[in-house]
Amino acid sequence: MDAIKGFPEGFFWGGATAANQVEGAWDVDGKGANLADAMVAGTHETPRRITLDIDPEKYYYPSHVASDFYHHYKEDIALLAEMGFKMYRLSINWARIFPLGDEEEPNEAGLAFYDKVFEELNRYGIEPLVTIYHNEMPLHLVSACDGWADRRVIEYYLRFAKVLFERYGKYVTYWIPFNEINCLTTPTGNWNHGGFLHPGTEFFTAQVDDPNKRWAALHNQFVASARAVKMGKKISPNFKFGTMICHITVYPLTCNPDDVLLTQQEDQLRNCLSADVQVKGIYPYYAERYFERNGIEFMRTPEDFEVLREGPVDFYSFSYYMSNCVTGQKDTAQVSGNIMGGAKNPYLKATDWNWQIDPVGLRYTLNKIYDRYSVPIMVTENGLGAFDTVEEDGSIHDSYRIDYLREHIEQMRLAIDDGVDLIGYTPWSAIDLVSVSTGEMEKRYGFIYVDRDNAGNGDLHRARKDSFYWYQRVIASNGADLG
Ligand code: BG6
Repeated sequence: MDAIKGFPEGFFWGGATAANQVEGAWDVDGKGANLADAMVAGTHETPRRITLDIDPEKYYYPSHVASDFYHHYKEDIALLAEMGFKMYRLSINWARIFPLGDEEEPNEAGLAFYDKVFEELNRYGIEPLVTIYHNEMPLHLVSACDGWADRRVIEYYLRFAKVLFERYGKYVTYWIPFNEINCLTTPTGNWNHGGFLHPGTEFFTAQVDDPNKRWAALHNQFVASARAVKMGKKISPNFKFGTMICHITVYPLTCNPDDVLLTQQEDQLRNCLSADVQVKGIYPYYAERYFERNGIEFMRTPEDFEVLREGPVDFYSFSYYMSNCVTGQKDTAQVSGNIMGGAKNPYLKATDWNWQIDPVGLRYTLNKIYDRYSVPIMVTENGLGAFDTVEEDGSIHDSYRIDYLREHIEQMRLAIDDGVDLIGYTPWSAIDLVSVSTGEMEKRYGFIYVDRDNAGNGDLHRARKDSFYWYQRVIASNGADLG
């Protein structure tokens, strides 16, 4: 191990959260409802219901209080600083700034909240990495516009982005226009990424799909991203923008060439297409054929293609939780994942939520990405959702989370040694928060424990897990001490 090159000086060690999963205060200081606020809590076994009319008397909506970062941000940021964070990835709650989404003027109280957050981060020398859109579209735009399928939403998004660039540009250099933009390549993305609901959809995990609308929405997000990049760079040439891909690493289940080809097609469609558009500024060669073969039609103009070429991003970021296998065989054992599951890999273990754990796959993925794009890379999500137990003395011994993170960091170090330009790591999550797929609080990812359960019980106090102290040592040694 000694001969292996370590993490570079100035490496961005940190952690990530999203506003809708951590902030709570869903209707405070003028905030409007967003997409996540209409998602009822589920469990591992019970799918999350989506209700266009929010009815807290009837249903429990976990985002409404979440981890209450809104009222705990000072204490939370102090804890991040204590861990030694160099970077904190957070998103801005669009509906806090534009409660309905289509107003001309922003909500000053919402803006003031993030002023305080950025001032606090600045005080500790923590670099913010800001996701502009992480499933927080104002709910009003679902009925007023049919979400991202409507091109007017591009303009509303740009108005929102402009306010952020002008107001927070003195604190923020690194921006991610869209979280996991490729989620709209699957039906799971319809609601929380696209912002529309087809008649007949009740549950998040079983959404009725209209591929034409879904691809229109994704295309509109590509255009919005490119325009935001162009606008942002005019406001400040120092700004750096990144794609953010939910990278589902796929392997052929067997060496049957049919499985290999299917895997390649799956990788192109789910992982590569969106990043190609954002990093290279062009749709890849196979995209039009895919649309034709599948009868997918949506509006894209020559001006759009010009816009895409003019607004490429500067870095590649991605979430990495698992890998899956692909096969044409029927009846193979299946595993789950955040946007899609796949065939079970006999060489890997899985989490309690049946997401396969594959640290070596991270090294493979980093090399694959760098080979394809040759831009700096950040791993902006990676982590273990697990049940934690609080001991009588208040301690939380999450050795399983430490093992998971250690093994992934080791592989990042090897990828750097391979020559990959990896510049940051913001695992999921800095602090316990609401799970997107199940709505549980007890699918915990954080270094910092938050006392709140799946039903909303708990006093929200914070506690340092064993992983907190371990990560503190990792950061202090710039990744040399993973013990
Ligand atoms: C990513 C999302 O897909 O996975 C996060 O960007 C999410 O918002 C994370 O929380 C983990 O997924 P889940 O469903 O366990 O919350």
